[in-house]
Amino acid sequence: MNELAKIREAEKQSHIEIYSSAELFKEGSWLQKPVKTVTDIIPLLSDKNNLRVLDLGCGIGRNCIPIAKSFKDTDCRIDCVDILDFAIEKLYENAKFHSVENYINGIISPIENFEISQNTYDLIIAVSALEHIDSKNSFIDKLTEIDNGLEQNGIVCLIINSNVCEKEKDTGTPISPQFEVNLPTEELLTVLRCIFKDYQIIKETTVKQQYDIPRGNIISALSTDVVTFVAKKSI
Ligand SMILES: C[S@@+](CC[C@H](N)C(=O)[O-])C[C@H]1O[C@@H](n2cnc3c(N)ncnc32)[C@H](O)[C@@H]1O
Repeated sequence: MNELAKIREAEKQSHIEIYSSAELFKEGSWLQKPVKTVTDIIPLLSDKNNLRVLDLGCGIGRNCIPIAKSFKDTDCRIDCVDILDFAIEKLYENAKFHSVENYINGIISPIENFEISQNTYDLIIAVSALEHIDSKNSFIDKLTEIDNGLEQNGIVCLIINSNVCEKEKDTGTPISPQFEVNLPTEELLTVLRCIFKDYQIIKETTVKQQYDIPRGNIISALSTDVVTFVAKKSI
């Protein structure tokens, strides 16, 4: 198995495990509430009818379901892309439970293969997802597609891990990070500022995080810079 296939298989197994054991919006995991940066955007779109949203690497609906609930009376549509069929199945179950299944369009696809239609979306979000695109070139191409896919006044909301380091917790032995694209933070910021150069920046933060994460039968001590970038297409 090559390095990409190994990362993908490990990613798939760990998400299946999390999505099988943790319930959406229940205490006890990172799925217990939507990301605040995303919910903070909702009031900025309150004048929209027929809101079109794209959620790349949507998982089981942590962010898109609250958006659908906020805009269902205005006939919104949210295209939700995830590589995992199991995630999309759970997404529909959760959307049904929250009575928003008619506004959700689940798409099983790697983000790199999903072609974003031009001038289509009012909001494009990708939370902890674009770093799993298969290469740096596809990552940069996808950011350009996101720019082209947004309508005037559309908003892009990206949360991306950068500068990720992993080591075995017990021994300190370095482990290859389980992220397909792992840019140095400054490089990531330069790319974002360049591609979205004409945008009005709403939020740009870099927060250092450290946590332990299971990797097969070992525990990895992971450190990352979490880059949050929210901007409005204003020209
Ligand atoms: C850390 S989870 C985040 C899920 C969701 N964005 C959230 O905030 O709850 C990453 C998600 O991206 C999906 N994913 C990973 N690589 C992907 C790829 N290349 N294309 C599409 N989805 C991918 C995983 O299956 C997983 O559901």
